[in-house]
Amino acid sequence: RSLFIYITSVCCSLPDLFSYSPAAGDGSGIEFSTASEGRITGIRVWEYNNYWGGYISGFQLRYESNWTAEVGVNSGNPMEMILYDKEAIIQISGKYYSGYIYELVFVTNQGRLFKVGQSNGASFNFYPTQKGNELRFLSGRQNGSGITSIGAHWAAIRIGKP
Ligand SMILES: *[C@@H]1O[C@H](CO)[C@@H](O)[C@H](O)[C@H]1NC(C)=O
Ligand SMILES: *[C@@H]1O[C@H](CO)[C@@H](O)[C@H](O)[C@H]1NC(C)=O
Repeated sequence: RSLFIYITSVCCSLPDLFSYSPAAGDGSGIEFSTASEGRITGIRVWEYNNYWGGYISGFQLRYESNWTAEVGVNSGNPMEMILYDKEAIIQISGKYYSGYIYELVFVTNQGRLFKVGQSNGASFNFYPTQKGNELRFLSGRQNGSGITSIGAHWAAIRIGKP
């Protein structure tokens, strides 16, 4: 009986190895996922621009030395951040409004911040539930004009094993 209790407590105090920040945004259109091998080493984001500013139209992530396929639409000038060695994304916040994601802010474990878009609409704030976890991939929906929803998947990176 005491063994059983011991096993139960070991079982249930194990940390979650993954966590998911449920997608924010209205989410019209088709699903995307950037899940890839390796560590995230860069982010590139396109903003649909007009005279008053615009929504997030597309993005891609870099894993090791490879960029993923573009998600959404790549129009206008890309905004880009390449991460330093051992730098990881540990928080994402932003805003959504009128069907689109309008703002994305990526925060790294080295205290850097990469912000694209307009401060328009409702806020969201994503972070891993476990200390030491980092962004593994993004998922959500895009509708051929822009990003309509976005969610984040967090995990610890096991060094030496993809
Ligand atoms: C990057 O792309 C190259 C060429 O397609 C491939 O051989 C390599 O395995 C990729 N690297 C990673 C980390 O996915
Ligand atoms: C995508 O969604 C936006 C916002 O709801 C809408 O205005 C736009 O027409 C949609 N684009 C397409 C191609 O469906």
